[in-house]
Amino acid sequence: MQQNYSYTKIKCLFKGYAGKVYLIEKRTENDPPNKQIVPIVLKRYYRKASDPENHTNLIEYKFLTQLQHPNIINIIDAFTEQYEYKKYLCLTMEYMAPLHEIIGNLKDCQLYIFKEICQAVSYLHSNNILHRDIKPSNIFVTTQGKVKLGDFGISTQIKQIMTPQTCTKNYRAPELFFGLKEYDHSIDIWSLGCTLIEMYTGKMLFNGTSEIEIMSQIAELLGSVNEQNWQGVSQLPMYLEFINDKEPQLQKVIGKLPKQIQSLLIELLQLNPKGRLKINQILFYLDELQIPDRNRELSSIAHNALRDKQMNQIQIII
Ligand SMILES: Nc1ncnc2c1ncn2[C@@H]1O[C@H](COP(=O)(O)OP(=O)(O)OP(=O)(O)O)[C@@H](O)[C@H]1O
Ligand SMILES: [Mg+2]
Repeated sequence: MQQNYSYTKIKCLFKGYAGKVYLIEKRTENDPPNKQIVPIVLKRYYRKASDPENHTNLIEYKFLTQLQHPNIINIIDAFTEQYEYKKYLCLTMEYMAPLHEIIGNLKDCQLYIFKEICQAVSYLHSNNILHRDIKPSNIFVTTQGKVKLGDFGISTQIKQIMTPQTCTKNYRAPELFFGLKEYDHSIDIWSLGCTLIEMYTGKMLFNGTSEIEIMSQIAELLGSVNEQNWQGVSQLPMYLEFINDKEPQLQKVIGKLPKQIQSLLIELLQLNPKGRLKINQILFYLDELQIPDRNRELSSIAHNALRDKQMNQIQIII
């Protein structure tokens, strides 16, 4: 794709290790100067001088151009930029409200959002793709109230051997902490479980800062991590036994949530990956619940969040 416009950066939305995300105004040559421009988002990745000129080998670009689903973000445009010795790959997309920024204000839209994300995950899993980084900051709500899964920066086609050092650690399934390289779709199901609870409580389920702390929190919630509760776990390459002599906390944590969600969560947050529901079983369960459409409510929530953000923090970056 060619860049046939110029853009002005309005604000830096995010600075990560792989690049930055900006809110921009894009103008084509023929736009009159007084034209009202709807801001969009530019995700700009750092590229090494040795990286190839074209961007088609970047994981996120590959997935976002191949995948077509109403619950997966769309890229508007992709191009490369070069300033002296610095190279960047740029993707532009719609400006949306990230779920973690509206999580305290979801009213009763949680299950609807969850169902929409499960539809995206079902599409990925049926194509043998793992997202590997499902969490609220990678889920977006558009101003039309549509729910979209984004950030395919560490997604992968399922292979026999994959790196266990993947997924943001607070949403990472226990088998990954223990170094399993032949994992499967069930790692995304674990992250979905963590995300579903967070939508209701507004708090990250496992908020530890180290891998050991998170594994201890997992044991506190679900009971000892050992052969008794998870057959075969001691065979995993980096297995460590985590003992919890007290009552597991899961019931206490989910006790205030609606009953149907409690039973669903129990089947998502299983220590043993083989015990977790498959995505199509989750969708089947959700279908039975006949979740009402929450498009209009979400549209207004996203609208307000984005308007406030834009009004409060406009800064033109040169
Ligand atoms: N289209 C968008 N609209 C609004 N905000 C966005 C958009 N895309 C990204 N952001 C903001 O930038 C953050 C980082 O974006 P993204 O997750 O795509 O990048 P990342 O570098 O892979 O981040 P991380 O490694 O933290 O997951 C998002 O969590 C969100 O806050
Ligand atoms: Mg992200």
